[in-house]
Amino acid sequence: MNNFTRDDVDKMDKVKLLNLRNSCTGYKSAILIVTKSLLNVVNVAVFSSVTHIGSNPPIIGFITRSLTVNRDTYNNLKENSFFTVNHITENISSYAHHTSARYNENISEFDKTNLEKEYKETIEIPFVKNSPLQLLCKYVNEYHIAENDTVLIIATIENLFFEKDLLHKDLCLQLDRTKVVTINGLDGYALPLLIDRYAYANQMYQLNH
Ligand SMILES: Cc1cc2nc3c(=O)[nH]c(=O)nc-3n(C[C@H](O)[C@H](O)[C@H](O)COP(=O)(O)O)c2cc1C
Repeated sequence: MNNFTRDDVDKMDKVKLLNLRNSCTGYKSAILIVTKSLLNVVNVAVFSSVTHIGSNPPIIGFITRSLTVNRDTYNNLKENSFFTVNHITENISSYAHHTSARYNENISEFDKTNLEKEYKETIEIPFVKNSPLQLLCKYVNEYHIAENDTVLIIATIENLFFEKDLLHKDLCLQLDRTKVVTINGLDGYALPLLIDRYAYANQMYQLNH
């Protein structure tokens, strides 16, 4: 095995280090978050930090980078607490990646990429068209992370849309059935494959195997 100590790493090129530090924690969700400003500009941006926080109530979280520069997603959530979470598939991954470019708050990334909006009845915020798994979420709280000046956003899941082929009888959604991608590092997109699903783990397993 190769080894980098904290001292080795501190002497490395700062730009390259972003790759090391973003890839060493493993695969992450590939998500497009859609928000809307008071002036009705629809923003879409790629996020890899969206994660399950808890099931009851159904809560997710994601990290917003430091607010020392303008963050449209964060600012829009302050004006309109509803947003949509859209899983990225192989065929839209390059457009999804492009949303990380910095655009002025008056410009919608939907007008700058081949991503398309999808409106659903009675829901004001659009989803990303052809995304097979889409959540309507509501901002409920945030926590400042003092160590690096980032913010953890907490939100509830209010509505869940999915392609019916994804759903198992036990309500598990199998994402590889529609080529949902995962993120490796800062700029790598990969296609995972389900190996197996295992029975609920308990102590009897240890005794018998
Ligand atoms: C693969 C990838 C993952 C990203 N994940 C995050 C993230 O979790 N949190 C974040 O604040 N920015 C993340 N970004 C950066 C945002 O996409 C970028 O800052 C974007 O411009 C934010 O848009 P906004 O200002 O419209 O909110 C990521 C970028 C890439 C390429």
